[in-house]
Amino acid sequence: MVSIGELMHPYLKECELAAYGAKTQIEPIARLNLNEFQYDLSPNVVRVLREQAPLGKTYVYLGDKPTTELREKISDYVGVDAENIAIDEALDQVLNRLPRIFISPGDNMVTMSPTYPELGLGTKRAGGREKKVMLEEPDLAMDADKILEAIDNKTKLVFLCSPNNPTSLKIRRDDILKVVENANAVVVVDECYYEYCGETVADVVNEYENLYIMRSFSKGFGLAGTRMAYIISSREGCDAYNRILSGFEFNRFGVFGAMASLDDLDYYRGIWKKVAAEKDRIRTQYEKLGIRVWDSSTSFLFMDISVTGLTSTEVRDFFLEKYRILIRDVPATFPELDKKYISFGVAKPDINNLLISGMKEVTQL
Ligand SMILES: Cc1ncc(COP(=O)(O)O)c(C=O)c1O
Repeated sequence: MVSIGELMHPYLKECELAAYGAKTQIEPIARLNLNEFQYDLSPNVVRVLREQAPLGKTYVYLGDKPTTELREKISDYVGVDAENIAIDEALDQVLNRLPRIFISPGDNMVTMSPTYPELGLGTKRAGGREKKVMLEEPDLAMDADKILEAIDNKTKLVFLCSPNNPTSLKIRRDDILKVVENANAVVVVDECYYEYCGETVADVVNEYENLYIMRSFSKGFGLAGTRMAYIISSREGCDAYNRILSGFEFNRFGVFGAMASLDDLDYYRGIWKKVAAEKDRIRTQYEKLGIRVWDSSTSFLFMDISVTGLTSTEVRDFFLEKYRILIRDVPATFPELDKKYISFGVAKPDINNLLISGMKEVTQL
């Protein structure tokens, strides 16, 4: 008899098992390491999610009334036609699935490093290879020419995360378009933090045949737990994506929660403003302490804490042990970085006050 191990694709053996549990005994009062939404969902969204609970026994599927209405609402929000919108259950899932359309064993995808890893992992799972262009210190900004130079005749995908996780920096529109125009490959732009950045290339989606833009309801609308994301692309791009779906993968709560969120945009706009103000407040205080904080276009702050004389792991442990706040030791997931970078999602003012007083203590240790 043959075993699963023998028959499984050899390249899958090189893919690490996903494990993201916090390796700590301390239960945090605020978990800020995953950039989750720290404010409250709109009461209308909560009401709609509750209403849907008894219907949890039934499918929603591609082409039915709810998914069609959701695509229409997203198209109004983005400012494109509904045929330019495809939906799926989460951006992680989109990034994981998309390489199946383009990658055969031996192909590659080009991206900057560090960046959000999921398209690279999806490429590896399809038998492809990642080609990483290191972001250079001290600014860690992307150089479009270096990305273009890394493209070869085996490159099928290029991944640009704007704004980038973990650095919080947006990529200049001209640089994104330079890559899209000159790459002989499909360019995937991850706009997961669009609501905090306000810049997009969605307006040119019908001008380029090699462009996919990805967005999520997790960060701007706080629906991380219901898993809902969408793709903005040409009609052909959306059609190609829908071919890798069964059409039944959608989460009812994600679909209805997303619709209710788009119906309550004023509420969320108010939250995005609050996050921006809190982000500025923390950054100003941290800069007074000599900490270099990047000009974030996201809901989180990324910084270099060398001035404290401690490592990123020590600062993470300090906040967890003293304040029960979990921040991100960035090099723990991006070992290519020196142990001097941390990040955290912007929280409500009371928790942000602790982040400010805590960092004052850290600099005096
Ligand atoms: C840049 C980026 N893309 C995608 C995701 C995943 O989004 P989703 O919750 O829709 O899977 C994240 C989550 O942190 C992210 O930071």
